[in-house]
Formats: sequence, structure tokens, C-alpha cells
Amino acid sequence: MPRTRRKQAISDIFHALRQPTEIFNPPLENRSSGEMAAEFPNSTFIGADIASIPRRSPPLNCSFVFADTTRFLPFEDGFFGYVTQRLMVTAFSADDWQNAIREIVRVTAPGGYIELVESEINAYQKGPHHSRWNNAFYAVLASRNVHVNVTTDLGANLRPYVDSVTSNYVSYPLNWGGQVGDMVAQNTFKIMNSVRPQVLPVMGCTEEEYDAIIALSGDEMKRYRTWNNGHYAFGRKSLTTPSVTTRR
Ligand SMILES: C[S@@+](CC[C@H](N)C(=O)[O-])C[C@H]1O[C@@H](n2cnc3c(N)ncnc32)[C@H](O)[C@@H]1O
Repeated sequence: MPRTRRKQAISDIFHALRQPTEIFNPPLENRSSGEMAAEFPNSTFIGADIASIPRRSPPLNCSFVFADTTRFLPFEDGFFGYVTQRLMVTAFSADDWQNAIREIVRVTAPGGYIELVESEINAYQKGPHHSRWNNAFYAVLASRNVHVNVTTDLGANLRPYVDSVTSNYVSYPLNWGGQVGDMVAQNTFKIMNSVRPQVLPVMGCTEEEYDAIIALSGDEMKRYRTWNNGHYAFGRKSLTTPSVTTRR
């Protein structure tokens, strides 16, 4: 899509967010809905997650529900003017994605916005220790039937339901290149720690070796200039989208 059309599409979304509208953010985890609610006080935000609850009190225009996006979102058809889902690449199988997108489309109003954002699992220009960890992580996800390649399919997944999908990606550095690189690295180290019980047996290393691999991966990110891609796709639900039914 030409840059001017993309800029216009993004500016349309921001305009829509400033109007009073119902906005849905599955899954919420802790912060994204609350931050958006503070930024767009005229809109009402609802975040959903199967497990997490927010640690801080959200703004008054923000609330949360427990829900499994792949099964059923507890809202009427067409309830939301804007639905955004982010970073589910490690959670859903290919079937889960189809179900989740159907649910997301169902709860979006005709003409409302749908946005998906996902990061690739395999970073680029990795050093040997980071590669070893990344390969083991990928193997764990694949063994659980997780649809790791969904990131590059986001636009194609939305296209049946959405008019003129905008999809693209941005590349970002890991542990170099300033604040973004620092934040992505901190996030990556947290992921490496949180998936330790699943990934360590595949790597066949000790706890101490795993700690060393995290530290060495951080050094390598700087030395090899490791980077990754974040993909996004968005558009407006078509006024003619046939109603979608949910498999519960
Ligand atoms: C990596 S986090 C992303 C959270 C949030 N979207 C963000 O960008 O900060 C993944 C979240 O998905 C939630 N999750 C996993 N499977 C889910 C499902 N089937 N339905 C709803 N939430 C789910 C997890 O509990 C976790 O909080």
C-alpha cells in the first residue's frame, strides 16, 4: 500500500478512537488496554484474557473480562467499534486462529476497525547461543501445534471479512539501537526465563547453563546486531460481511 494511503488509514483509526466508541482488546494482559483508555478518554475499553488480571487499577473507561477468544467472547454481535489483538503468536494453533478471528469479526460492528499485531518467533542475525535457544523455543511451540507462521498471514486472515486490508511489518533491534532495543531485549529475557521449564529439557542443559545462555544471548544481540519483525494488519469490517457463527 502506498505510504500516503497507509498514513491516511492510520489517521482514520486515530480519528475513530477519539470518538465515543466501544473498544475491545483481547487479550488484555496488564497494560495495553489501560494505556489506550488513558490516551482516548472518550471511548470505553474492555480487555479480555483467559488467565491474567491487571495488576494496577485501570482508568474508569476501562474494564476486563475473562474469556477464551478461541471459543466465545461474551458480547453481542457487532458490539465494538474497534477490536485489537496483539501477541498471540505463541498461544494459538491454526484452528484457534480461525476461531479467534471469527469471534473477533463477530463482535465488531460493520464498518468498525479490526487490528492484529504479531511478532515473528525467529529473530534474524543471531549469535550461536541465542540461535540455540531460539531453535529450541521454536521446536517447543511446533510440538504443541502452535501456528508460529501466522505473523506473515495476518492480512490474508482478515481479508475475507475486512475491506482494503492494510498489512505491513516494522523491523526492530534486540539489545542495541537505543530504547526500543533495550525494551525488546528485556522482554526477550523475560520470555526466555518464563519458558525455561518447557525449553530447558529440549536444550538438554542445566539451570546454570540456561542462565549463561540468556546472558550470552544478550551479548550476542549487540555483537551480531540481532533484529526481528513485528507484523500488523488492519481494516474496517465490511458492511456486507455475512454474520459469522461461533463454535463453542
Ligand atoms: C504474550 S501475552 C499478550 C498480551 C497482550 N495482548 C499484550 O499485548 O500485552 C499473551 C496473553 O494471551 C493470553 N491467552 C492465551 N490464550 C488465550 C485464549 N485462548 N483466550 C484469551 N487469552 C489467551 C495469555 O493469558 C496471555 O496473557
